[in-house]
Amino acid sequence: MPTLATTVDGLSLPNPFIIGSGPPGTNLNVISKAFKEGWGAVIAKTVSLDASKVVNVSPRYAKLLANSGEVIGWENIELISDRPFKIWEEEFKKCKDQFPTGVLIASVMEEYRKDAWIEIIQRCEAAGVDGFELNFSCPHGLPERKMGAAMGQDPEILEEVCGWVKAAATKPFWAKMTPNITHIEDPSRAALRGGATGLSGINTIRSVMGVNLDTLRPEPTVEGYTTPGGYSSRAVKPIALRMVMEIATMIRSEFPGRSLSGLGGIESGRDAAEFILLGADTVQVCTGVMKFGYECVKPMTEELLAFMAKHNFATLADFKGKSLDYFTTHADLVKRQTARKAAASGKSVKNDAEWKGDEFVKQSDALARG
Ligand SMILES: Cc1cc2nc3c(=O)[nH]c(=O)nc-3n(C[C@H](O)[C@H](O)[C@H](O)COP(=O)(O)O)c2cc1C
Repeated sequence: MPTLATTVDGLSLPNPFIIGSGPPGTNLNVISKAFKEGWGAVIAKTVSLDASKVVNVSPRYAKLLANSGEVIGWENIELISDRPFKIWEEEFKKCKDQFPTGVLIASVMEEYRKDAWIEIIQRCEAAGVDGFELNFSCPHGLPERKMGAAMGQDPEILEEVCGWVKAAATKPFWAKMTPNITHIEDPSRAALRGGATGLSGINTIRSVMGVNLDTLRPEPTVEGYTTPGGYSSRAVKPIALRMVMEIATMIRSEFPGRSLSGLGGIESGRDAAEFILLGADTVQVCTGVMKFGYECVKPMTEELLAFMAKHNFATLADFKGKSLDYFTTHADLVKRQTARKAAASGKSVKNDAEWKGDEFVKQSDALARG
């Protein structure tokens, strides 16, 4: 019988399914529900020291529906938690009293000030959290204060801030990366150089959900106006998988042993298997919980176990990163296909040393035409 239990950065999880930071971890009440339903860990909604600067608007969600009516894409312009930090400290403490073995991770975000980062880390640790996720990736609202994605897009600042946290924290910490950048490996590498124990990705993708063709106003419309928000849910999964693959490939070659938590559009155990095959140690679910409720962890764990049983994988480590080996360059795909077709038709192909330029293309085309 395969097991989903895993230990990541010293944290023992009964399964790799983690509540991703957002509405599903917005207060003690819902965090408790998550632990009761069997989630492997919970990452709480992002907190900062001064919640009075966080002012949310309404409406702050807009959805993309499939023809069937099912929600497949979700945009939000929600900020980090607007609840006072003192309340969070009390709730973290109560949570650890109620669920001493439950893995509780605080998601934190601060301004570009060393003392603020040290204070928030130390106060959260005093409240008993088991680890941290540093939110370097919220795409809206906070970048105006040089927070969130504004930091996550700047490798130098990222490395420096991770260095501050590394010096202050006694618990593991993951840097959560923004997808709103061309090469996600660059800031990821900087965070690991700064001392992050691991990485998570992706946060939401900067988006405009649509324009109402009656009112001509873009959505979600707040007092007639909008601002670009963050895109999540099933529609973002292919982009998330690509970025997880890129981060995992970089970790494998440059920082072996550092962890990766994958997320973006995960709604099933099979989705989770794909992220793990591309190098994730754990998987997070945020919008999926908003769509299907906390109970969805049960079918997810069952589906992942069924996948493992089918392939005779006893542990997550048996298949973590197994599909990374099947990525190559487009030129190599052409070469492989050309060789395979030639072999099938019995024609000889030139050896590797002789493949070059126009001649290669001509020969490939000729072979492709049979
Ligand atoms: C309404 C909403 C609020 C979110 N708030 C936060 C947040 O406070 N901190 C954070 O790191 N990510 C936040 N996220 C991003 C999610 O944690 C996650 O990175 C993203 O939505 C992709 O995963 P998903 O498709 O499973 O939701 C939020 C997402 C949504 C939809």
